[in-house]
Amino acid sequence: MPALVLLGAQWGDEGKGKATDLLGGSVDYVVRYQGGNNAGHTVVVGDQKYALHLLPSGILTPECTPVIGNGVVVDPSVLFSELNGLNERGVDTSKLLISGNAHIITPYNVTVDKVTERFLGKRKIGTTGRGIGPTYADKINRVGIRIQDLYDESILTQKVEAALDVKNQLLTKLYNRRAIEAGQVVEELLTYADRLKPYVADTVLILNQALEQDKVVLFEGGQGTLLDIDHGTYPFVTSSNPTAGGACTGAGVGPTKISRVIGILKAYTTRVGSGPFPTELFDEDGDALRRIGGERGVTTGRDRRCGWFDAVIARYATRVNGLTDFFLTKLDVLTGWEEIPVCVAYEIDGKRVEELPYSQTDFHHAKPVYETLPGWSEDITKAKTFADLPKNAQAYVKALEDMSGAPISAIGVGPGRDETIEINSFI
Ligand code: GDP
Ligand code: IMO
Ligand code: MG
Repeated sequence: MPALVLLGAQWGDEGKGKATDLLGGSVDYVVRYQGGNNAGHTVVVGDQKYALHLLPSGILTPECTPVIGNGVVVDPSVLFSELNGLNERGVDTSKLLISGNAHIITPYNVTVDKVTERFLGKRKIGTTGRGIGPTYADKINRVGIRIQDLYDESILTQKVEAALDVKNQLLTKLYNRRAIEAGQVVEELLTYADRLKPYVADTVLILNQALEQDKVVLFEGGQGTLLDIDHGTYPFVTSSNPTAGGACTGAGVGPTKISRVIGILKAYTTRVGSGPFPTELFDEDGDALRRIGGERGVTTGRDRRCGWFDAVIARYATRVNGLTDFFLTKLDVLTGWEEIPVCVAYEIDGKRVEELPYSQTDFHHAKPVYETLPGWSEDITKAKTFADLPKNAQAYVKALEDMSGAPISAIGVGPGRDETIEINSFI
């Protein structure tokens, strides 16, 4: 029963889409277990580039069944436009399964996300504005709308009315916006019901049966460890659990079933949105990483903040996820630097600290302590084995592995499926 979790080890955008797609050919199910269309996963197949937001990256592999688990939040209008876009490009999406327990991002959740951010002003989180936080808030407050509610109009109406009771007070009295009419929301949601129906399934049962039959199931995380609501840089986080435990709750599979947890790790660091980022660069090196690495958000088009590799974060990701492997991505982007600094520890108020501080205040004060490694200038994009890499690139990878606490089992040297060095097989 091989169940693998593949997740972001930093602040998202590590290359999870590419890694999932690469493994897609050897797995039977690819499952999203949290988040929603705040994710932006780029997959390059041959000369075709796909940007996926809500759909699991396994959708591009015909043999694989893509699953949207109960822990995901689904905006049906986004789902349909993503499905339409793929269908127009000849991708068969008919195998998709969606949990009836997944919560729906309603139009009012999107409105609340945007007005809340505006209200926060310079204290804003820098969310993607897709309604993620307010939808999870409704779920926890037990006023959320689930996919299955679309099939009982009376329950749907009662639930939408209950959710809007409080929200309309906030919208009109605090945020100075117009009230949202429950009837209109219900009408819009009901237009999605028929088209969604063929995809809706008891995904918990299906996935557990698949594991009993020795099928291979891959859980694809959105976002990343440092954006986790419990383990990330709260409050500058997303509202779900991208960390490994999230795969269990977000898909209904017990922890004893998980055999491998793979952390996707960029060879440097990026972040989108607000919040502390100790190795962030504000100089030409930061600009160069952004330019060479193409570091622009797939979902919002925002420039990503860029910085050197941070081993403290990688060690933390190993710990909170129980990582068994790393997939190191974008090593090719570092080609051409004479020397590459790597953050090995922090200095906080004059003291050297080796591990991520649990206190937000300390983390805001963390200054990176760098070790500098020699760079390389040879093109590495054609490398197929570890031995093909220049000596200094090999040493860089080995140093990162030693600092990060788990073996680096694959290395990305370009965005394409085949631009990957496989060291240990994942399945
Ligand atoms: P995700 O959100 O983790 O799936 O990552 P994104 O798709 O948002 O961002 C990663 C970007 O890096 C995408 O444009 C990928 O095509 C690209 N990418 C992934 N792996 C590599 C790699 O090894 N080298 C290079 N140059 N690009 C890569
Ligand atoms: P993938 O899956 C990078 C960030 C947002 C913001 C914070 C909260 O492509 O790695 P939200 O809309 O989730 O409430 O925003 O989280 N964020 C991401 N950053 N990659 C992502 O997804 C992200 N999804 C959300 O920028 O700082
Ligand atoms: Mg992304």
